[in-house]
Amino acid sequence: MAGPLRAALALGLLAAAQPAPAQPAPAPGQRRQAELFLEKYGYFGEPGAGTHSPAEFTEALRDFQRVTHLPLSGVLDAPTLHQMAQPRCGTDDGESRAVGTRRPSAARRRRRTAQHGGRWYKRHLTYRVVNWPPYLLQHEVRLAVRAAFELWSNVSSLVFWEVQDGPADIRLTFFHGDHNDGLNNAFDGPGGALAHAFFPRRGEAHFDSAERWSLHSGKGRNLFIVVAHEVGHTLGLEHSPVKSALMSPYYKKLSKDFVLSWDDILAVQNLYGKPSKGSAIQLPGKVFTHFQDWNTDLYGRDQQQRSLSTYYCHSYFDAITSDADHNLYIFKGSHYWVVSASGNASDPQPLERHWPGLPAGIDACAWSQLSGKFYFFKGGRCWRYAGSTLEAGFPRKCSARGLPRHPDTALFFQQLRRLVLFKGPKYFVVSEETLAVEPYYPRSLRDWQGLPPGTAGALTHRDGFVYFFRDDQFWKFDRAKLQVVATGKWATQLPWMGCWDANSEQVLF
Ligand SMILES: *[C@@H]1O[C@H](CO)[C@@H](O)[C@H](O)[C@H]1NC(C)=O
Ligand SMILES: *[C@@H]1O[C@H](CO)[C@@H](O)[C@H](O)[C@H]1NC(C)=O
Repeated sequence: MAGPLRAALALGLLAAAQPAPAQPAPAPGQRRQAELFLEKYGYFGEPGAGTHSPAEFTEALRDFQRVTHLPLSGVLDAPTLHQMAQPRCGTDDGESRAVGTRRPSAARRRRRTAQHGGRWYKRHLTYRVVNWPPYLLQHEVRLAVRAAFELWSNVSSLVFWEVQDGPADIRLTFFHGDHNDGLNNAFDGPGGALAHAFFPRRGEAHFDSAERWSLHSGKGRNLFIVVAHEVGHTLGLEHSPVKSALMSPYYKKLSKDFVLSWDDILAVQNLYGKPSKGSAIQLPGKVFTHFQDWNTDLYGRDQQQRSLSTYYCHSYFDAITSDADHNLYIFKGSHYWVVSASGNASDPQPLERHWPGLPAGIDACAWSQLSGKFYFFKGGRCWRYAGSTLEAGFPRKCSARGLPRHPDTALFFQQLRRLVLFKGPKYFVVSEETLAVEPYYPRSLRDWQGLPPGTAGALTHRDGFVYFFRDDQFWKFDRAKLQVVATGKWATQLPWMGCWDANSEQVLF
């Protein structure tokens, strides 16, 4: 719906435009500069078209004047030259110039979705600030970036998650001058193009590190508004011809108005839908000029109400495993949660519903990649389910065959094609057929270099690593090197654990 509405709004604004006063002809150098400018910002269609006829030039100028709400003189007059010299976004004006008197052709519209705009096919996206502008406080920049993403997530179904290292869907980077995006995209020092970004699913926004960035209302370029705008591009939004839009190519100013205009909101909802819970929330732009006064108390107050759906994120769980579709199963008390491969956590479900007869508070669980069955351990007993069916002969007294009572963790270990039970300083390798401990086991946990005793659960992730969990920590185990290669806090550092709410409550500084 955003397309026609955008067009209508642009036309409304056009009608209000006044005819231009007569202007002296521009110097030849100015004309060439204007031509290069219009080329860079996509006013001649495909780049590299060479020189342009006077008619093409006039047409391009009128398109630019339409997008920037100048009188449609088609002449390189003083207001147009002035407008071209203003700081702006370095991303081209693509389709926004096509809105107005001409209806975008079918081919153009196709290009908009296929190549130009594009979208993400998931709702949970990670972002990372790769480096920092030199003279701003890092925690203020981090708050501003978070608020910039929140603008978009508050009005759509998107959810964002900051990661502090490693890969991320969207990366924000500060660069000097030429930075391998092509000469057209080289940064130009203070003024001119302040930043640019790529459409999905490249996930890159670049900022000119030579700008005097600021997070306050006074001097300098407001980094918050520029980040918020560039994030819009990384989500698939193009420049908007609506003057009050955040996605206008000339960055808007913070005022008592909302940062996002209707046009921005409709455009993002057109791609990703409305927010799933509650309605769209917006704050007046002025609020975002005081990041120095923000603190997490103020910010996190209404997040106190922790959602039940991710209750496991804020406490410890009993056991965890994953299945063939990379769904995670997290067990706690008499409930379990399923976290899909997209990182979406289900509401808590009663254990009984999926595994009739299973008691609450299990010690360990493993899903077997060999048989596709779920194994549960509690006390000295074990249960085996094919789907929701408890197999004949279960529950059974597994401790009678040498398995440890109250195992800490169970894991199907692909390397051995066996179940492994961990208990204190030892581990036991168990055959699925006999459910008996294999010869020469138990052995010392030292074989699992770097792994602490007493883990709560483990799973093999689709990245090929085995992850062990204990309290709020995880250990990432390399199956080839047979050693722990990383450790950290699972709720905030492993997006696939589904703890998006936990992350937003994270203390930021
Ligand atoms: C997003 O909505 C929350 C309330 O759910 C609010 O506290 C927060 O300030 C909003 N963020 C922005 C950037 O508008
Ligand atoms: C998340 O899962 C719920 C059901 O558990 C579903 O309604 C919702 O559409 C899912 N959201 C995404 C983004 O996959």
